[in-house]
Amino acid sequence: MRGCLRGVGESSRLLYTLAAGEQPAVVVGVHHGEADNTFTLTPAGEKLDALASGEISSRLLNSGSLLKGGSWRLVGKVHPDLGQVVAVGLGKPSGVQDEENIDMDRESVRKAAAAGVRAVTDLGLKEVQIENFGDCEAAGEGATLANWAFDRFKAEKKPRPAVTPLDSFTEEWLNGVRLGSAQNFARDLMECPANHLTPTLFVAEVIQQMKGLPVNIEARDQSWAEKMGMGSFLSVSRGSSEPPMFLEMSFLNGVKDADPIVLVGKGVTFDTGGISIKPSAKMDKMRADMGGAATVTATLKAVAEAALPVNLIVLVPLTENMPGGRATKPGDVVTAMNGKTIQVDNTDAEGRLILADALTYADKFNPRCVLDVATLTGAMMVALGTGATGVFSTSSKDFDVLSAAGRKTGDRVWRMPLWQHYTQQMKKSPLADLNNISLTPGGGACTAAAFLKEFTSCKNWMHLDIAGVMENEGAVSYMGSGMSGRPTRTLFQFVKDLQ
Ligand code: BES
Ligand code: ZN
Ligand code: ZN
Repeated sequence: MRGCLRGVGESSRLLYTLAAGEQPAVVVGVHHGEADNTFTLTPAGEKLDALASGEISSRLLNSGSLLKGGSWRLVGKVHPDLGQVVAVGLGKPSGVQDEENIDMDRESVRKAAAAGVRAVTDLGLKEVQIENFGDCEAAGEGATLANWAFDRFKAEKKPRPAVTPLDSFTEEWLNGVRLGSAQNFARDLMECPANHLTPTLFVAEVIQQMKGLPVNIEARDQSWAEKMGMGSFLSVSRGSSEPPMFLEMSFLNGVKDADPIVLVGKGVTFDTGGISIKPSAKMDKMRADMGGAATVTATLKAVAEAALPVNLIVLVPLTENMPGGRATKPGDVVTAMNGKTIQVDNTDAEGRLILADALTYADKFNPRCVLDVATLTGAMMVALGTGATGVFSTSSKDFDVLSAAGRKTGDRVWRMPLWQHYTQQMKKSPLADLNNISLTPGGGACTAAAFLKEFTSCKNWMHLDIAGVMENEGAVSYMGSGMSGRPTRTLFQFVKDLQ
């Protein structure tokens, strides 16, 4: 059914008052038409409209303004067999945009599904059936991501409607829900207050979450790290009373003995800056300085649930960065697992210190590729803001796979330089082989990446700096505010697509 809006009067969101109904609410999509002020219902919408003798389209026609992409309107009860009908806007079909490196149609579906869940939540309804808007997977993702809140420590919980697909539980819908849930798991870990998610508690939580999945988990303690010679990692944990941990997890479901993909995640469960202490404003956000650990762990969970035919290893060095009496002091020199010495001129540049040893350790798996993910530098936030994860890669081929993954998920990446220019800046240390900070101003994300490069022998290595995308304050409309769990879905897609 096509329609052209008549008067563009003051439109009200609630066209019809709610009556208590037994049936679940139903969400259907509305596209902008080619001509101004025209709209088209999706095929699922048309079907219900026919059932309701055109009542859906006629109510929309009479409702005044056009429904914008990502917004919703209550159509109300239109048929005794249907619950409350909610219409959501899909905008104009716009396809894949090369310049933007994004599939706008998939994004529109995520936004529409999210709007449907928001509508039903705001209306206080308990159950909702969402149509697939032509893309079951994206619909499942959007609906799941919108249906999240971190209210573990609140007496009053946010109501979360039960969401089901309008037609059937297709493989794609379930995959979308799985991906959305994995990202929500990463968000839970990131939001969790640091006193409730120490390195020890992180390990306990992960063991709990992986229960029933064929994932092998080894949780190593400080004495193991000492034996491995991880002097760089351990230099960070010295200032804290909480013992460090090193998680090694594997899901081996690919060709036997095929070189594994290794993901490494920065697991600083709280970053005070150490002796180079941070200012107190917004320091609480540093509870999410284990965003790398959270997203790689969530990726592993989704990969295991989906039983992808891959060999995947996930390494997570876990520690607090605190200014205790035994803490590393600026100017201290430590020795990393690969034998290189590091002058720690700034204890707040701790992420690279823990990743250095984890990257060296990753070499022992003879990996197909190594990706590390870290909330590493404020400079990354300055460079790209919340638009994309910054990626430094020694392999153009693998980067292209990651970039295509981001195009599909809408959680994009952008390539950054990994040049000797920056490496040289990190080698200017009066006391050691490397300095943990550059003494030349600017390019902080690039010098951090150049530092990490000194600790991997893998030919296909990528470093993902996720500091800019750590938090969502409205940039991704289908997610709501809070820690983002980005780029979990892109990592999953990369693992799936990599040959
Ligand atoms: N965890 C921070 C980086 C960060 C900042 C992540 C803001 C997310 C939001 C990291 O450990 C850090 O403090 N980096 C320093 C490095 C500097 C001392 C060279 C920074 O970016 O200021
Ligand atoms: Zn820091
Ligand atoms: Zn940090």
